[in-house]
Parts: sequence; C-alpha cells; structure tokens
Amino acid sequence: MSLFDTLKPEALDPIMAGFQAFAADPRGEKINLGVGMYYNEAGRIPILDVVQAAETRLAGQVGTWGYLLPDGLPALREAAKRLVFGEALLGAIGERITTVQSLGGTGALKLGADVIRRLAPDSVVALSRPTWGNHPSIFEGAGLRTIEYPYFDPLTGGVDWPAMRDAIAEMAPGTVLLLHACCHNPTGADISAENWDTLAGLIRERRLVPFLDMAYAGFAEGLEADSLPARLLAQCGVPLFVATSFSKSFGLYGERVGALSIVAADARQAGLVLDQIKVAIRTNYSTPPTHGALLVSTILTDPELRAQWEAELETMRQRIRRMREGLVARLAGNNSRDFSRLVRQKGLFSYSGLDAEQMTRLREEFAIYGVSDGRFCMAALTERTLDRVAEGIRAVT
Ligand code: LMR
Repeated sequence: MSLFDTLKPEALDPIMAGFQAFAADPRGEKINLGVGMYYNEAGRIPILDVVQAAETRLAGQVGTWGYLLPDGLPALREAAKRLVFGEALLGAIGERITTVQSLGGTGALKLGADVIRRLAPDSVVALSRPTWGNHPSIFEGAGLRTIEYPYFDPLTGGVDWPAMRDAIAEMAPGTVLLLHACCHNPTGADISAENWDTLAGLIRERRLVPFLDMAYAGFAEGLEADSLPARLLAQCGVPLFVATSFSKSFGLYGERVGALSIVAADARQAGLVLDQIKVAIRTNYSTPPTHGALLVSTILTDPELRAQWEAELETMRQRIRRMREGLVARLAGNNSRDFSRLVRQKGLFSYSGLDAEQMTRLREEFAIYGVSDGRFCMAALTERTLDRVAEGIRAVT
C-alpha cells in the first residue's frame, strides 16, 4: 500500500476553484467577477503608477537580496504599524504593539492562528456567518475549533446587528472573535461606527480576543475611517490581532506582502509575543520575501509617494462605487428583485442574493464567473462589461 493509494479528488474552495475554471475557459468574452482583484477601466489588474515610481526609485539601489530576518523588513514593519494604528495612538501605546511582515493578509491570519494555537490550543474562533471561505480553513488547519455568529441578513442585504450583538454578548471569555474591519468579505455589509463602540464594550466586558481582518482598508470609507476599528479595539485592554494586506490597496497581489500586528498588555509582553511569531514564521516559511516589502515601505515612508498612493487608492474606491451604481441602475425596474443593496454594500464584494444554480447558469450561458454563494467582485466590473453582466443577471433571476 503506498502513501497515495487512498487518495480521493479534493476540490479547492469555491473562490480558487472558480479562478481555476475561469483560467481554463476558452471563451474570449469571459468575465471574471469571482476572485477579489481590482480591475481598471481597461479591464486589467493595474500596476499602480506609484508602484512604478517606487520601482524606478529602487532600480539599482538594492544592494543585496540576502535573507531578511523572520519578522521581515524593519521599514515595512514600522510603516505598517503606523498605517494601522496612526501616530497619535502609537505615541500612547506603541511599545505594546508588535508588527511583523507577513505573506499577504492570508499569511498574517495563519501566523496569528499558529500563535494562538501555541499559546492556547483549546481556543475557539468565532467567525461571522458567512465569512471569507478561507477563514475556517486557516484556523481549523492550524488546529483550532471554529464556531459561527450570526451576521448577514439576507432580507435587507445588511448586517443583522441585534443577532450579532446578542451572540457576542454570550461568548465565553477568551473566545477569539474574528471581525472584518470593513468591506466584509463576502457580503459587503459592514456594521456602523456606533455598532463598533458597542462591540468594543462587549469585547472588554466578556474578555474576548478580537482578531481583525483588515484586508480591504481604504476601500470602504477611506483609509482613516477604515482604520478606526483597529484603533478602537487596541484600547480595549485585551489582546488584539490585526491582519493587514497590501495586495488590494497597492495592487501587489502576487508579491504577497502584508503584516500581522499584535497588541499586548505592555512592552515586555509584546517582546515575548514577538518571539512567538518569529518561531511561527521560521517553522512555516523561514523568512519573508523582500521585493514587495521594499516597494510598500518606500511608498509609505516618502511623503510624495504616500500622497500619490492615497490618491490612487481613492480613485479605485470611487471607481468601484460607480460600478455599483451602474449595475444597480441597469437592473432597476426590470426585475422582480431589488438590487439596491449593491450600492449600500462596501468594498470589492457584494452578496447578490443569487443562488448556486443561478450562478452556474451565469457561468455556463454567459461566461460570467462569480462565486457559487452569489458573491460578485464589483471591482472587476467595467463600463464595457456592465451591460452584459446586467443582461446575464436579468436572464437568470
Ligand atoms: C477573495 O476573497 O477573492 C480574495 O481574498 C482572494 C482570495 O485569496 O480568496
């Protein structure tokens, strides 16, 4: 009997499986609204101008491609920390926060999961229902148990806040509470600033361990507003984990650059936490890659490049909003269904309310790829594809 004799086919999660199927689809006019990437009006995943400017600046300047230390490029770590928590808060509690470079946001989640597993193997991780398909796999893959809390209300297309609040109010102390800072993936439905205040109170009271996924910061209301949950929770007096991604906000998907920040009780504890993360990194992939980290830190630490980046990020955010409005306008009045929720939802994704069968028809009959749970990547729509997508949705609903 060999190692592989009992193997059975195993599917990837619906997002990656769809991405794979899209790549294999020979139809020329296919449209990918599945995996979360931002496209420009030309239908391309752009290299930001500011990234090109940083590349030019770095050309010939990098003296070595030697290993980084496990925790990553110091300039990236510092810049990521400042971006997430802001100068004012860092002045007050900066020494309690440790930030390391990670392999994108997914890598940050995995490192956090590994650290939790090392420190408290019986921890339970509470995930929103629904959540990004990879969340349960990452935490369960790290050996932790997951549970769900109610989140999305299919009737309104928004958050069922009373149900969410009441479930969190009953959670056992020490429960790891995974929250999406903004642009909830997959629904696009976010809680309000007032809800965040209530949540912070509950977290403090119940002694929960919040784990914030900030993959889409900058795409909901703008960088400052989207960072408020992290800054609020950092002051709750409980351990806080924050996963940051530069994939979407810098268009650096393939570079795999992100950061994990952990807020501890004091500087000594933060140092001990850093030791734990370094062991997790060393035993997963040893040390992180350099190139993307150099690009991001160059941009974040240079005032001119930083301003250019913020402007480009704002342009992306506004274009997604226009696409949401454009699709809803095209779907209005033609259908038994109300799609106005798509303009209220934020960020790259929206839960359309279409079921798996309708999503399959869209794919098979119209070469339009979303995710089987009805999620569309609104950031992949363009003026050129809006009509076709609206036509497909009308036809299958
Ligand atoms: C998504 O949700 O499509 C993105 O976060 C990409 C991914 O890795 O799933």
